[in-house]
Amino acid sequence: MNKKTFTLGIFGGGQLGKFLVQSAKKLNIRTFVFTDSIDSPAIYHCDDFIISNYKNKKKLDFFIKNIDLATFEFENIPFETLDYIKKKIRVSPDPSIIKILQDRLKEKTFLNSIGIKTTEFYYLKKVNKKKINNNIFPALVKTLRLGYDGKGQIFLKDKKNFLKYSFKNNEYIIEKLVNFKKEISIVITRGKNKTVSFDAFENLHKHQILKNSKIPANINKKLNDEAKKISKKIIDKLNYIGTMCVEFFITKKNKLLVNEIAPRVHNSGHLTMNAHNVSQFENHIRAICNLKLKKPKRIHKAIMHNILGQDIEKYRSKEIAKNEFFYDYGKKEIKHKRKMGHITKIF
Ligand SMILES: Nc1ncnc2c1ncn2[C@@H]1O[C@H](COP(=O)(O)OP(=O)(O)O)[C@@H](O)[C@H]1O
Ligand SMILES: [Mg+2]
Repeated sequence: MNKKTFTLGIFGGGQLGKFLVQSAKKLNIRTFVFTDSIDSPAIYHCDDFIISNYKNKKKLDFFIKNIDLATFEFENIPFETLDYIKKKIRVSPDPSIIKILQDRLKEKTFLNSIGIKTTEFYYLKKVNKKKINNNIFPALVKTLRLGYDGKGQIFLKDKKNFLKYSFKNNEYIIEKLVNFKKEISIVITRGKNKTVSFDAFENLHKHQILKNSKIPANINKKLNDEAKKISKKIIDKLNYIGTMCVEFFITKKNKLLVNEIAPRVHNSGHLTMNAHNVSQFENHIRAICNLKLKKPKRIHKAIMHNILGQDIEKYRSKEIAKNEFFYDYGKKEIKHKRKMGHITKIF
């Protein structure tokens, strides 16, 4: 390997990594992917890659030697790994932010501390289970860490169910199930001197996995602006550089509650590749590499559908219309509920 030009290191090799790599290429930036899985879509598109456990010091040292800057495509890279890298090279967004956002308790506590509303929650370790308020049910119990696509979540109808349930340890939060009207997300990018964001995406989940996202979201301008304002406050308070996503519930009373923050590019932002003047991926690369951000402008209305598991086979042989863009992540292993691709339709 011959590192002569600026090289961006990316942790994680999934579809988000693949789209980041492709955006970097468009900007003439070399990429080096570090992934722990051989079945990683990004490795076919980057300039170099390593497949290794994220804690392998020898591999990490080699990686550091050959990159100028590191970023990541998902937040569950061990904090110790990012912190180790940070001692030698810039990591963007900063690992200290990831430490907060990797943990649902720290994340929600941070949000509440800056005056942003979330759903009601308790840390199981710190509450007397018998005394927990009946009003919180039906509820969801979520692991503090490592959950995604609904993994690590348990639905509990009532207190009786809850008291009967035996939790392995108490590293969970319990939160009230929100009877929401809609879910939306804001994808926002902060650079050194400028912050830009897309208007809200309207998201529909099935079994806690994103099914589709559409733009424009069917909400009024006031709510859209308020969601953008909240997202701006969060990104500024975190002093975050790069693209992140804020997921919201809109309650029946038209109030916004933040569900969670993804400190990375996000599935709901896939449609930006086809419906906007700039994608969430390109703006992330621009922000962390200190290039000028592009202000997002919507060119089309659009809807993006995720393609899970076996459904990918059907799409592989399906005729794709002129206004549709089909992305096959090319993952080798087809698994039930695994995100295998997506299709975006523009109007
Ligand atoms: N408190 C809640 N009330 C209602 N729905 C919820 C709640 N928490 C999660 N969900 C549903 O499950 C989806 C995934 O949960 P989320 O907390 O975002 O975890 P993940 O990290 O798996 O994305 C949400 O987008 C929403 O549809
Ligand atoms: Mg989520």
